[in-house]
Amino acid sequence: MAILIQNAEVVSATETKRTNVRVEHEKIAAVGEDVVAESGDEIVDGSDQLLIPGGVDPHVHMALPFMGTVSIDDFESGTIAGIMGGTTSLIDFAIPAKGESLLETLDVWYEKSAGKAAHDYTFHMAVVDWDERIAEEIPKVVSDHGITSFKIFMAYKGVFDVNDEQIFHILEATKAAGGFVNVHAVNGDIQLMLADRFAEQGNTDTRYHALAQPPRAEGEATGRVIDLGAIVEQQVYIVHVTCEPAVERIAAARARGEPVWGETCPQYLLLDDSLYDLPDFEGAKYVLSPPLRKKKDQDVLWRALADNEISVMGTDHCAFTFSEQKQMGRDDFRLIPNGFMGLQERLPLLYTHGVTKGRISANRWVELCSTNPAKIFGLYPRKGTIEVGSDADLVLWDPAATDTISAETHFSRCDYNVYEGFETMGGPTKVWVRGELAASEGEFVGTVGRGEFVKRPPR
Ligand code: URP
Ligand code: ZN
Ligand code: ZN
Repeated sequence: MAILIQNAEVVSATETKRTNVRVEHEKIAAVGEDVVAESGDEIVDGSDQLLIPGGVDPHVHMALPFMGTVSIDDFESGTIAGIMGGTTSLIDFAIPAKGESLLETLDVWYEKSAGKAAHDYTFHMAVVDWDERIAEEIPKVVSDHGITSFKIFMAYKGVFDVNDEQIFHILEATKAAGGFVNVHAVNGDIQLMLADRFAEQGNTDTRYHALAQPPRAEGEATGRVIDLGAIVEQQVYIVHVTCEPAVERIAAARARGEPVWGETCPQYLLLDDSLYDLPDFEGAKYVLSPPLRKKKDQDVLWRALADNEISVMGTDHCAFTFSEQKQMGRDDFRLIPNGFMGLQERLPLLYTHGVTKGRISANRWVELCSTNPAKIFGLYPRKGTIEVGSDADLVLWDPAATDTISAETHFSRCDYNVYEGFETMGGPTKVWVRGELAASEGEFVGTVGRGEFVKRPPR
C-alpha cells in the first residue's frame, strides 16, 4: 500500500518547505506540492510537524565484546531504541581481536545481526594489526562486502591499537582499495602510562579515568593521524571528538582543504567531567573514552558544529549496565567497561539543545544527524535525504512534543540513563523504515528482522 504524507514542513540539509511526500514499495515515489493521493493511498496529515529523513548513526557498538563483557544492546534493542528516537540506519564496528582475520570477523558480525535489526545497517571494518593477510583482505572487504570505511584505534594499547607505521600501511591499503579510515584518536602510550601510574599510586576511582586521557593527548593523536593521512593523501574521519585541541587540528586541516571530518556525540556537548566525582561509584555510569571534558570544551564543540568544523553527530552507543557490568571496575577505574547509550536520545537532545536554543538551524540538525553521515559513508542518496528513489526512511517530528528522558521508559536494555531527568522539546510521532510504520506515538510497531545489511560503493 502507498502512503501520502501531506502538509508537513519537509526539512532537508539545505531547505525547509511545506510539501507532500508519497511512498510506494519502500521508496519515496514522489515529492511536491502538487502530489496528491491515489486511490487506496493511506493519508497521513503532517500539519504542524516536520518531516525529516531518518537519522543515520555512524557510530554504535551492538553486542560488542569489550573489556571482559559484552555491551548490553544488540541489533534488536539498539535498532528499536534508535527508531524510537528517529534514527533509521546505523553503522556498527566489526572489530577483530589482534591476529584474527577481517573476513572471519565479518562472518561473526553478519551472524550476530542477522534477523535482529529493525532498521537497515552496515559495518565499519576495524583493523587492529598489520600483516600480509590483512593487506590481502582489505580489498575484499571493499569489493565483496561493500564495506568502505575502516576503523583504527590509536588508544586501547595492547588491545586494539595500531602504531604509526601500521597506520601508514592501513591508510595506503584502504586508499588503494577505494575505502577510507575513521580513527579513535587518543595517544595510547600516554593513556596507558598515566592510567597505570595513577593505579600504582592508589588512585583508582573514576576521576582518574578522565585524568589519564588529557585533552592534549587527544589533540596530539588527532593532529598526528591527520598528518599521516596528508602524507598518503588519504581521507580521515575522526570519531567522537571531545575537546578544543582536537577541534583545532581538524579545523586547521579543513581550512587547508584536506579531506578531514570530525564527529562528536551528544555526551560531549551536554555532560562534563564533574560527573566523575559523584559518590558511591555513580561516576562509573559516565565512564567512556575519550572521557567527558570541561564546559569550555562543550562551548568549542557547539561553535564547531555551527561553523562546519565538526561535520557529524554520532552517539558511540555502547551501553553497559550499572548494577553488574560497570561494577567490574568498582575497585579500579581501568576495569570499568567504557561506554554508554545515545541512540534514542541523539535527535531529541540535539533538537532541544541545538535547534530550540538557536545554536544550529533545523537544517543543520538534519545535516549533522542524517545527511552528512549518509554522504560521508556512502549511503547517500539511498539514505539521508527525502528524494524520489530514496529509501522511505522517514520521521514525522512534532516540534512541540515534550518528554523527560528516563531509564524507566527508554528502549535500551541498560538499567540507567546518563540523561535521566533531561527534558526534551521535539520528538518523533511516526517513524517509517523503508515505508513500513515502525514507531507511532511512542509505541514500537515495527518488525524485528526488517533491517537489511546495506552494501556501499567504493569511493
Ligand atoms: O568508551 C567508549 N567509547 N566505548 C566504545 C568503544 C570506543 O572507543 O568507541
Ligand atoms: Zn572510540
Ligand atoms: Zn565507539
